[in-house]
Amino acid sequence: MSRELSKDFLWGGATAANQLEGGYLEGGKGLTSVDLIPHGEQRFAVTAGELHYSEVAEGSHFPSHEAIDFYHHYKEDIALFAEMGMKSYRFSMAWSRIFPTGFESEPNEEGLKFYEAVIDELLKYGIEPVVTINHFDVPKTLIDELGSWRDRRMVDLFVNYATALFNRYKGKVKYWISFNEINMLLHLPFMGAGIYLGDLSEAERTQVLYTAAHHELLASAKITKVLREIDPEAKMGSMLAAGEYYPYSSNPEDVWAANLSNRDNYFFIDVQAGGEYPEWAKIMFENEGIDIRITAEDEEILRENTVDYITFSYYSSRVSKAEISSDDMVTGNAFKGVKNPYLKESEWGWAIDPLGLRTTMNALWDRYRKPLFIVENGLGAVDKVEADGSINDDYRIEYLKAHINTFMDAVEEDGIPLWGYTPWGIIDLVSAGTGEMSKRYGLIYVDRQDDGSGDLHRSKKKSFDWYKEVIETNGQAA
Ligand code: BG6
Repeated sequence: MSRELSKDFLWGGATAANQLEGGYLEGGKGLTSVDLIPHGEQRFAVTAGELHYSEVAEGSHFPSHEAIDFYHHYKEDIALFAEMGMKSYRFSMAWSRIFPTGFESEPNEEGLKFYEAVIDELLKYGIEPVVTINHFDVPKTLIDELGSWRDRRMVDLFVNYATALFNRYKGKVKYWISFNEINMLLHLPFMGAGIYLGDLSEAERTQVLYTAAHHELLASAKITKVLREIDPEAKMGSMLAAGEYYPYSSNPEDVWAANLSNRDNYFFIDVQAGGEYPEWAKIMFENEGIDIRITAEDEEILRENTVDYITFSYYSSRVSKAEISSDDMVTGNAFKGVKNPYLKESEWGWAIDPLGLRTTMNALWDRYRKPLFIVENGLGAVDKVEADGSINDDYRIEYLKAHINTFMDAVEEDGIPLWGYTPWGIIDLVSAGTGEMSKRYGLIYVDRQDDGSGDLHRSKKKSFDWYKEVIETNGQAA
């Protein structure tokens, strides 16, 4: 028996507010964590929560402030998405457009109107909105006053924010995602969750990070409950920065190391999809003296409000080795790891492993038995604009084609339910990791450069027409 992609398969594209909108103070929007992260040398230290944003050098360039100015170009951009045949568009809402400081009791009408206009524009073309409620950006006031997610008061403030969205967009948005790459909190705490660690000791860091993790998990369960009350037809998804860990060798020590890495990586989704903390985590909290104050009521909320579907980003697989030397290392999606000698890497050193997507999908399906949705996948590369304006991004087509064929195998031969595929940065946008524009993922080119120059005009790359045909043929042309 072989299954095909459903005729309603949600082919689409993905972006995030802080990487494309710009208009960082327009429409009453408040400053967010990401607005404080500069391009350049200090970026990594700030995103890692090591350097406080107030210490960023004067005159730095902050790419989120203008980004690609989707705030003023959304109609033009959505028209291009429609021309490509996109059936879904994953984007995020900026918390501080709706609650500028995070503390207001009433939402900012101008912010709500902006996203309503975006949603209506999408629906006009029959494009399904897939909304990430929080993609990295935390209102600055909440960071300054509460220290962000380390404080339990964040939970109710987030519930207020999500409730305002559900009430306003009820019936229009069917697919919601609570936190983008929720596991990023443990790797890049300021980028992922607005958390500054400074010079805390290792033990204090662990305490802060897992406390913040509990607050996000609780918030995600609580908003799932609210969504079911307000709009029972809508679905709530979790979102993982995925990529299976392979053992470096068949040495049992390497196999065990990979097992531990996978277990750590699934920590958040185990709670969001399974409804409780894994036993190993409870033992680890106890052994390491981590006191998270999980109440009986929290446990009940987590248990009763698990997600409907599992979304994830997949850029590459990862490798674990029991004994690592610095020569073994490779970069990749904030997860520094061991180099896989069998794989080629992108210009930014991210390993390219299409088959790993199938392995990852099988692991997720076997573990959770909930429908999957690939909400990020793509190749960051330098594009060359030819004299005639064309951009021949065959490397991007090759990357996407290989991954599409792999997930189709996972559907057709492994029988995994997959709701959709929204490649990352469907339109060029700011890189989260490096702040560059030159690390381009788009099928639509935007004339905006690393230093902020460029006239922002949009043009179609070769991959645009290729993807259009893939969508038209429901994957057969890939
Ligand atoms: C994911 C994030 O980690 O990877 C995106 O959800 C990000 O926000 C994407 O842009 C690609 O990473 P980068 O660093 O190349 O932009």
